[in-house]
Amino acid sequence: MQLNLNGKNIEIAEDLRDEPLIWTLHDRLQLNGSRYGCGAGWCGSCTVILDGKATRSCQTKTSQAVGKSLITLEGLANGDKLHPVQQAFLENPLQCCYCMTGHIMTAVVLLENTANPSSVQIDAAMDANLCRCGGYNNIRQNVARASEIARGAT
Ligand code: FES
Ligand code: FES
Repeated sequence: MQLNLNGKNIEIAEDLRDEPLIWTLHDRLQLNGSRYGCGAGWCGSCTVILDGKATRSCQTKTSQAVGKSLITLEGLANGDKLHPVQQAFLENPLQCCYCMTGHIMTAVVLLENTANPSSVQIDAAMDANLCRCGGYNNIRQNVARASEIARGAT
């Protein structure tokens, strides 16, 4: 079975077809950027990008990623240059940051589709990702800041 992971084709064992994608990423490929939270599709901390869509890797079988473009947190930076969303969250971090990968990946998808989102659009896009530390104001600010960085409007 072949995955297109962060721009590279990699072979993985056929018997991982039914394994949740998050565990294939963590345990077989040592990509631990996605976070295991609820394990039930509620929190969004395990979000990856599958064919341009924010996708919960705890609810996705590994075989469902075959034939698609799979991007994880580890695939966002371009060499030493962080993705604008990563840069914005680094400038203004959250509290424990356990939820941060999910917010980053969801924001990347938002900005790919809407370069300069309104606050209403930011709230709508980020709404399904939870933060137990209540960092929602920072998250909103960071998505808006990432949009500025990406558009060169700094
Ligand atoms: S760990 Fe996947 S949605 Fe919570
Ligand atoms: S910063 Fe702690 S869960 Fe979001």
